[in-house]
Amino acid sequence: MRHMDSFVVEGLAGEPKLAGNITVSGAKNHILKVMAAAALIEGESRFENVPDIADVTAMGKLLEGLGAFVTRSGSSLTVSAKPMSGTVMDPALAKSLRASIVLAGPVLARFGSVTFPHPGGDVIGERPIDVFLSGFEKLGAKISWNGGSYHLEAPQGLSGGEFFFRVVSVTGTETLMMAATLAKGPVTLKNCAMEPEVVATAEFLKSCGAKIEGVGTTTIVINPSSLTPRASPFRIMPDRIEAESFLALGAMAGKKLTVSGVVPQHLDSVINTLWSMGVPLTISGDSITVSAPERLLPVNVRTHEYPGFPTDAQAPFTVLLTQAEGDSIVIESIFEGRLNYTAELVKMGAKITLISPHRAKITGKTPLSAIAVDSPDIRAGLALLLAAAIAKGKSTIGNANIIDRGYEGIEKKLSAVGLSIKRVRS
Ligand code: EPZ
Repeated sequence: MRHMDSFVVEGLAGEPKLAGNITVSGAKNHILKVMAAAALIEGESRFENVPDIADVTAMGKLLEGLGAFVTRSGSSLTVSAKPMSGTVMDPALAKSLRASIVLAGPVLARFGSVTFPHPGGDVIGERPIDVFLSGFEKLGAKISWNGGSYHLEAPQGLSGGEFFFRVVSVTGTETLMMAATLAKGPVTLKNCAMEPEVVATAEFLKSCGAKIEGVGTTTIVINPSSLTPRASPFRIMPDRIEAESFLALGAMAGKKLTVSGVVPQHLDSVINTLWSMGVPLTISGDSITVSAPERLLPVNVRTHEYPGFPTDAQAPFTVLLTQAEGDSIVIESIFEGRLNYTAELVKMGAKITLISPHRAKITGKTPLSAIAVDSPDIRAGLALLLAAAIAKGKSTIGNANIIDRGYEGIEKKLSAVGLSIKRVRS
């Protein structure tokens, strides 16, 4: 039986008491992509700094269902894709994980066909895959839908070509870039996502022999190549969203909180937002130290593709803005369901008006009171946990397993810096 854990948090009642160091883990949205990329390679791919989170386990199972071997030892993970031959993904697993669509690209490119259901994932709004499908079609794949799953075929292999992304898509860019490494001719992708995870995934592929140019810009060109396994393990980049969530916490409740193991350049937009709010930050190498100022200034935030303000950091920052003195506007421009959790913050005492599904007005500063609530998705769940951390009284955040999908040992990291938080199994 699957247990549903809860986090029980004794709030700090607005007192800035957290001190010490939190080291961020490897990035969820990087490891999931390179695990999929490993399916392109006839051999063994080893990764280090791999976070121990539920989504990595699910991706491992999905790969094993297609004949690969996935083994884990501490923070190292190995994918042996040599024995892979299956092309039909387990529907229940693939549905539970948005990143399953990313695996479709490598499997199609290497084996000439792939079958998968419409992928699921978070409840943060519509998650269409039309862009992926038209990209695969552009590279010569034939697509059919039997009412339950998609079946894609390119028996002679994918062809070269040019594809323009109608919308900028992170996983879309990664998936087509991966698939294109085994195409018969050059592939040009335009209007690509520039997220650091896209760049880091290309680095892995390049180190296996892929010929990829322009990554980190809006146009990526992939030339035909053959891929061979790397000799050494590949290191997963630090999780920038985890880092940003802890910085938001430090700005509300930090006495002197250090977030370490980060790449500060990945956090430019968030760091500049914190500066505008009057938050004192010290950046030193791969560490950032933050404390809560006497007074937080309001600021307007608009989520945007990288290097703009990340949609995944929107919820933690909305919690922070409830503590700023004055009016702030948050515009969520990427996903339409991603402000729904603000209703829970209102129950805790926040003054938030949803002007539209994409726009919220926050008036602070409001003290927050404790709440019992279930985590709606990874990022909103974490934001509610942060709200509970600064609230007065004891909160319970149910559905902890949803937070576990994206954050490794969150209760251990937060209790180490002075928060009273425990996991309760029900
Ligand atoms: C990735 O999702 C991340 N997930 C998300 O993180 C993140 O929120 C998002 O990028 C934006 O940064 C992974 O990397 C696994 P998109 P992705 O395709 O790639 C529309 C988290 O919490 N669209 O860049 O699925 C779409 O509706 C997760 O870690 C289409 O219209 O997002 C959205 O409005 C949640 N058609 C926009 O594009 C398509 O075929 C951008 O989404 C694909 C996308």
